[in-house]
Amino acid sequence: MRVLDHQSFARKARRRLAAGAAFLAVAVGTGVLSAAPAVAVAPPAAAIATVAKAAVAKAAVPTTANPLPSVDPIGNPASISVLVNKSRPLNPASYAPNDLINARGSGQYMRAEAAAWLNGLFQGAADAGTGGLSIVSGYRSYAQQQQVYSYYVSIYGQAYADTISARPGYSEHQTGLAMDIGNAAGNCGLSTCFGDTAAGKWVAANAHKYGFIVRYPNGYTGTTGYSYEPWHLRYVGVALATDMNRRGFPTLEHYFAGNTAAAASIKSGADLVAADSSGRLLRYPATAVGSYAGAVQIGSGWTGLKQAFVVDWDIDGVYDILAQWNNGVLGVYRGLPGGGFAGQVVVGNGGWDRMTITVGKWTHAHGRPGVVGYFPDGVLRYYPNTFGGALSSPQIIGKGWNGMELTIADWEGDGANDILARTASGALINYRGDGWAGFYGPATTVGTGWQYMRVLAPNFGLTGAGTRGITAQTADGNLYNYGLGRGQWTTYSQVGSGWNGLKLFK
Ligand code: DAL
Ligand code: ZN
Repeated sequence: MRVLDHQSFARKARRRLAAGAAFLAVAVGTGVLSAAPAVAVAPPAAAIATVAKAAVAKAAVPTTANPLPSVDPIGNPASISVLVNKSRPLNPASYAPNDLINARGSGQYMRAEAAAWLNGLFQGAADAGTGGLSIVSGYRSYAQQQQVYSYYVSIYGQAYADTISARPGYSEHQTGLAMDIGNAAGNCGLSTCFGDTAAGKWVAANAHKYGFIVRYPNGYTGTTGYSYEPWHLRYVGVALATDMNRRGFPTLEHYFAGNTAAAASIKSGADLVAADSSGRLLRYPATAVGSYAGAVQIGSGWTGLKQAFVVDWDIDGVYDILAQWNNGVLGVYRGLPGGGFAGQVVVGNGGWDRMTITVGKWTHAHGRPGVVGYFPDGVLRYYPNTFGGALSSPQIIGKGWNGMELTIADWEGDGANDILARTASGALINYRGDGWAGFYGPATTVGTGWQYMRVLAPNFGLTGAGTRGITAQTADGNLYNYGLGRGQWTTYSQVGSGWNGLKLFK
């Protein structure tokens, strides 16, 4: 691990990137004119919270996963939500559905319910002016899948065949719930270029409304075991598909790895949590269209906060709240699966009101999210959360961070969290995390004009399955979502106004 001298990096970054991130400067510069409140100058550094020293837990957990809990996946092959993948064959392997029908008269078959919704999907795609869809391949029996798989093995070899074709008894096509589709025009059939066509884009954005998911999305081969297949649709029913979309689960594997928080007070990484001036704790549920619905009160008595964070502190799959109180205490309120929160567990004592902190998984060596922050001396420290309770002794990871606002986020999209640091003059600088509590590579300026932002709150799944972004609250009370790609911003849109009086949780 290297210790990063932030100021020398910042100087280099400024020289290199003086003209960078123009779109953000423009986006923020228009319509947001009032200045952010001045940052209070705090006294020099003193004691750090005293905590137990502890052994380092070894648990590599992806930093970008939406941290919600697991339930048993559905195993019944006749269930529309059955999970079939490389480690979950159909049971029995010879399973054949008993309600197959000829889908749209194409000669390809699907189970009746799926085929009915497929009609709606095709109509929707045509009505949207995409040029329409066509049917390519639906139900395949065990024997037919054997033929398909053997064919691919014969031309590509087994290793590659396994990335594009399921073995017999392991294919969703055998459930009667999968359909490979293409453009009506016939181009890009069973090719990834389908995903770049108008029809393919429309399907990716709208399939959930008809109960379908793109089962093998781009970038999730490590999870699904298969290459990107923008054409392979799986019917799971509207309720499940919509829930997956709203809560940002990119694959069925993710969904089953994390869906029992349905009754918890904070349900999704896309939801916003805030406290109002009377101390009411409010959740603003994310909507399917990437904005926020009206507030639901989930607590009271939340006055006296310096800042608070939504985080799965004990990685039980239910979101918790980390509160940084004005009285110097750092406390965790564990979210309960059935709703509500347990009483405060003090995880850091004394002086935390003088720290500027951010929270997140900072090293693959620790499965739990920890705290990164500095006292007014600007020395950056990482406080591991080894047990899901009190913080462990800090390690110094940088210096010269005075005056920076900190946000842990995976800017690179490489699974290792980075620190987005906002300078007093409004530059947003990415300090690349190496995934092991250190930094690497050059820091880069990824935005300017951010001095008008009061709070930056990372979100997961706000604008669709698997999306990540930053919800930013401006000094004059507007909310904007900045989508995170892999080392670049994606979407940008206003997602709220009138948030002036609210303390937004990060
Ligand atoms: N192409 C998909 C993975 C299948 O064969 O079922
Ligand atoms: Zn398929």
